[in-house]
Amino acid sequence: MEINHNNLLPIGVFDSGIGGLSVLKQLVRFLPQENYIYLGDTARVPYGNKSPEIVKQYAAECTDFLVSKQVKLIIAACNTVSSVALDVVSKHANNLPVIGMIEPASSAALRESSNGRIGIIGTRATISSKAYENEITKLSGNKNLKVFSKPCPLFVPIVEEGMMKHPSTKLIATDYVRDMIDAHVDTLVLGCTHYPLLSQLLQEIMPEVTLIDSGEHASVTALRILAEARQLQEQRKEFIEKPNVKFYVTDLPANFAAQANMFLGFESDKPELISL
Ligand code: DGL
Repeated sequence: MEINHNNLLPIGVFDSGIGGLSVLKQLVRFLPQENYIYLGDTARVPYGNKSPEIVKQYAAECTDFLVSKQVKLIIAACNTVSSVALDVVSKHANNLPVIGMIEPASSAALRESSNGRIGIIGTRATISSKAYENEITKLSGNKNLKVFSKPCPLFVPIVEEGMMKHPSTKLIATDYVRDMIDAHVDTLVLGCTHYPLLSQLLQEIMPEVTLIDSGEHASVTALRILAEARQLQEQRKEFIEKPNVKFYVTDLPANFAAQANMFLGFESDKPELISL
């Protein structure tokens, strides 16, 4: 049998900052044996309240960097990038497969929803782009659907400050999702890298609602794409104690290690500082 050396190449993941580590956490859950390169554009985060034009420019630079590192697959872990700049990522990806957050989470939401009332929360840029709404409408055909969207700009700083359990966070979150509760949504897409860290709280506020973690569903898509292309890393079969990830950042925040740990659930190696 011929060995496809492509299998050994890393999976490239990028995000506006450290939030994409919630996606990386899901990737190593489904694909623990793979090698990863993670790029966090920490110098320019957040992307979520920037214009589509500037996000496209940043996304192109992040993609070029990952391509230069010879990855076999590119994951745009940032929902904002996936919403407004996935075409740019694909254009710069040098024919490599690209996975964004929107399509996998949209199809999962459609599968999960019984009453066709789906909620989407994300950054301002993600919600104004209507990327989720359009994708869900496209995938559903003519089904009688209703999508309710809400930007939740305070969630990113709340999570980065580790305030998930703070009493004020519950008040803010309840206010954000009130209209969706009133509208009887039965499925809520967590359309931002940071929101899975708030899933416990959101589930408390909306106990009957199914939460969709975009990183989880993108990881299942990555597994399927690599399996179909026979590009899974199958050499490393031994017990994986620590995922093999090389981290790059465009700025080194003082609390990187603690924040990375919070998103990943395991200790990360020190990142390498680069400029794009
Ligand atoms: N990573 C972004 C997203 O998923 C959130 C942080 C930011 O605004 O850059 O939309």
